[in-house]
Amino acid sequence: MIEENACLLEQEILACTRCRLASGRLHAVPGEGPVPSRIIMVGEAPGEQEDRTGRPFAGRAGTILNNLLASAGLSRNDVFITSVLKCRPPGNRDPKADEITACKPYLDRQIVLLRPSVIVPMGRFSASVVMGQFGIPVGKISGIHGRAFPADAPHGPVIIFPVYHPAVVTHNPPLREELAADFRCLKEILAGSSGA
Ligand code: URA
Repeated sequence: MIEENACLLEQEILACTRCRLASGRLHAVPGEGPVPSRIIMVGEAPGEQEDRTGRPFAGRAGTILNNLLASAGLSRNDVFITSVLKCRPPGNRDPKADEITACKPYLDRQIVLLRPSVIVPMGRFSASVVMGQFGIPVGKISGIHGRAFPADAPHGPVIIFPVYHPAVVTHNPPLREELAADFRCLKEILAGSSGA
């Protein structure tokens, strides 16, 4: 039943025309991973490779993410990976407010369907959307990354664990170690939380 609903939601996203981004896309990118999923990783929006392939984190940031997941004892098969926006903004510009308003209900429905115990927003943009959703005050990503914020989701308690966006290491290499430390911390959270 859950799988069936997830499949219907995926079809809905693939056919979505709720905002202007639909007209410029090659593929919408709903996300991929197990259903249900203990962990949801949430990026900002598809880039060029994701638009081309229809898969989340298919480009350079994806390689970095794969390595970070491995450092936490995880593979892509263990987590559901998605983004706040499901279609690529032209030239990878920042998402616009009306695009977020149009697209965010998909993420909300994914959370309800997937029933995660940990949600990992990646980057300041995703952190502000996800934490805002759960009524958690949003600070700068430099002040909130690597901290566990308990929240109540429709299906029960969740931990929101914001981290820097994996792409940050390509334009700010010194943050690589902070990102790696956050994923080590994520590993500890997973080891300590129930329902492993
Ligand atoms: N960056 C994101 O935030 N999401 C993707 O799917 C790819 C890159």
